[in-house]
Amino acid sequence: MKKKQIITNDKKYIMNTYKRFPLIITRGKGVFVYNENGRKYLDFFSGIAVDNFGHCPPQVVKAIKEQAGKLMHTSNLYYTEPQVKLAEYVSGISSGGKVFFSNSGAEANECAVKLARKWGRTKKSGAYEIIVFKNSFHGRTIGTLSATGQSKYKKEFAPMLSGFKQAVFNNLSSVKKLAGRKSCAVLVEPVQGEGGINIADRDFMAGLYRLCRNKGILLIVDEVQSGMGRTGKFLAYQHYSAKPDVITMAKAAGGGLPLGITIASGRAAGVLSYSDHASTFGGNPVCVAAGLAAIKLLNGKLLKNVNTTGSYLIGKLKELKKEYPALIAEVRGIGLMVAMELINSKSNIKGNDLVSKCLEEGVLINCTQDKVIRFMPPFIIGRKDIDTVINVLRKILKRRK
Ligand SMILES: Cc1ncc(COP(=O)(O)O)c(C=O)c1O
Repeated sequence: MKKKQIITNDKKYIMNTYKRFPLIITRGKGVFVYNENGRKYLDFFSGIAVDNFGHCPPQVVKAIKEQAGKLMHTSNLYYTEPQVKLAEYVSGISSGGKVFFSNSGAEANECAVKLARKWGRTKKSGAYEIIVFKNSFHGRTIGTLSATGQSKYKKEFAPMLSGFKQAVFNNLSSVKKLAGRKSCAVLVEPVQGEGGINIADRDFMAGLYRLCRNKGILLIVDEVQSGMGRTGKFLAYQHYSAKPDVITMAKAAGGGLPLGITIASGRAAGVLSYSDHASTFGGNPVCVAAGLAAIKLLNGKLLKNVNTTGSYLIGKLKELKKEYPALIAEVRGIGLMVAMELINSKSNIKGNDLVSKCLEEGVLINCTQDKVIRFMPPFIIGRKDIDTVINVLRKILKRRK
């Protein structure tokens, strides 16, 4: 199909829920994706933190091919070896908990919410309230939208589920005010992704952990975006002195294929039992085999690269901020989850315009919250790739000074 026809038919046959950029991606390899003419683009967004190991990592492709040739699907009414292997691996490098497999971040969080509600009903006299945070993002199902702390995503779909109470991120006293007899869980992203790369303070996370322990409240960390090494550790909570009862993962967890993971440990481990929850495709053998191959790539050397290249990227963006103090408000980040916040003013370049201009120059980045430029490149990038992106940004900002 020609480019024009793809775009025309996309508009005709696919619901208009995405604002697509005028780029057709036909293949990807390593840190690059390619359009239909073979033009290459440096991918600094990794399909929203999914292609953490680059595009089509050979080990993951091999695992997918092997598993697809053996067994592509069976129901969860039977045992399968890939599920057991991945569950053991994930559990071993996180909280030592038990795993439920699903297909997406929203579903991983739905499982956590159901677990928390059952915990409250059976262990805390019917407590059902879940404390969530302003600016958070937990998914697009009605349940996870209800948990999400941004009204712009919810307003067309009211009423939301009841029982979600919003506290202020990095403000422990706002949580203390809400934590009570009716609270069964706190649900928090250690690094708010869609909300603009807002990093939890050390004291805040440690305080949340203590509060949850003292008040018989489950601590759920949503690591859908921040997990799988994105912040320089396997899971972002591992930077803090906080031990969650429940962890949710997705995005990069399936090595590029759809996979959601909910891990419940300690007092939360045995809460969900027979017939409480299920998913036809959850833990699909091919997705799980891909996830296992991907997670094995996450060795010390690669995590070190996340930290060193992350610091290099942040340093270079801070240099840009010095050059353009009237355009850039702040640079922040952890590992390779990095943000450059623009100053919103009439005359300044808008976030989405900057993203479009970068695309014209062959670089994929993203803008969230209208003014926060988000960089989440694959972990295999080098300093040369960062320099390329910085030069492109500099060229665009120079024009808009
Ligand atoms: C922190 C977080 N939780 C949940 C989700 C929802 O994941 P999915 O789109 O796979 O349902 C996202 C997606 O961006 C996310 O960033």
